Amino acid sequence: MGANPAMWAAGLVVVVMAAMMVGAEAALPRFAEAPEYRNGEGCPAAVEGAGVCDPGLVHIAMTLDAHYLRGSMAAIYSLLKHASCPDSIFFHFLAADDDGAGGEGAAAPGIEELRSVLAASFPSLRFEIYPFRADAVTSLISASVRAALEAPLNYARNYLADLLPKCVPRAIYLDSDVLAVDDVRRLWETRLPAAAVVAAPEYCHANFSRYFTETFWSDPQLGDRVFAGRRRAPCYFNTGVMVIDLRRWRVGNYRRRIEVWMEMQKEKRIYELGSLPPFLLVFAGEVEAVDHRWNQHGLGGDNVLGSCRPLHKGPVSLMHWSGKGKPWDRLDAGKPCPLDHTWKSYDLYIAEGDSSSASAPSLTALSSSALPAAAFSW
Ligand SMILES: *[C@@H]1O[C@H](CO)[C@@H](O)[C@H](O)[C@H]1NC(C)=O
Repeated sequence: MGANPAMWAAGLVVVVMAAMMVGAEAALPRFAEAPEYRNGEGCPAAVEGAGVCDPGLVHIAMTLDAHYLRGSMAAIYSLLKHASCPDSIFFHFLAADDDGAGGEGAAAPGIEELRSVLAASFPSLRFEIYPFRADAVTSLISASVRAALEAPLNYARNYLADLLPKCVPRAIYLDSDVLAVDDVRRLWETRLPAAAVVAAPEYCHANFSRYFTETFWSDPQLGDRVFAGRRRAPCYFNTGVMVIDLRRWRVGNYRRRIEVWMEMQKEKRIYELGSLPPFLLVFAGEVEAVDHRWNQHGLGGDNVLGSCRPLHKGPVSLMHWSGKGKPWDRLDAGKPCPLDHTWKSYDLYIAEGDSSSASAPSLTALSSSALPAAAFSW
């Protein structure tokens, strides 16, 4: 007497699901509960029943995956801590929803698990998690120099306008390796002239040519011709901090414009570096420039060389550990850079084997002296 195929199938599903749950559970670290922050006076009153469509909200979009979760948790904490109206921030998280899509072959944690980790550390956080299907981009991705840059989730920012509710007019996209040390509402209130879809700090002294190959620059149909007629001369900008007008993005079908360049890249190598160049191709010379204080980037430096980068000159509202090195890795290795100590004061991670109960980390290290002097000047 044999079990019928339906029974076999049902049994298999149960086993697979159990295996996935156990596997994912082991993959996610533990985090302490962050201190509670509440709206002060003068914050926009919540519109009853409006939910995510409430016009008083500041919308932040980030990706969530097991690999960078510790960074994301610190970033969220920093945004809440420095916000004048923390209850008015709504977080939109994009998470890979299929195995391996988080990159590096690791099974992606379940969305429900990510949800419970967030809720445990930030009990009153307003957020939504959107499953991001990696197969939307895998066929468009070509091999690049740094394999980590090719994780499909890196391309999730291209799809914000498709994934977020239509009533969300704009979103601030942030990488997982950032810390806000200022009220993000100031960035949110960036004015976008009618012609601009994206606002970001620009770096016009950076050598723009080097983001594209000789093949690109020497092609008469490409090269300079691509950037002719833009609002301004094309400059490098970092896609880790962007204010995006989602309505204009949808109307202009910018996702498609980016994909066209990704398709070309598969035919002839026009750039080297992953998800950034298609953004530059579409938006360089068109972005609205934001004060550099909102992306003090490059703090990751280069892990291999063990280099530490200092802050750039000028005030600081957002620190960004872009580059190969991450502060959590250097701290764990006992070789932190000086600025990694600032990051540490927002770290909610509970090290394995640490038996202390989940509680807010000590904030005594977060005196103003722990931060660059300019951090809070405005
Ligand atoms: C900029 O980069 C390109 C390509 O790598 C190089 O040929 C050029 O000399 C550089 N220009 C400057 C001013 O460094």
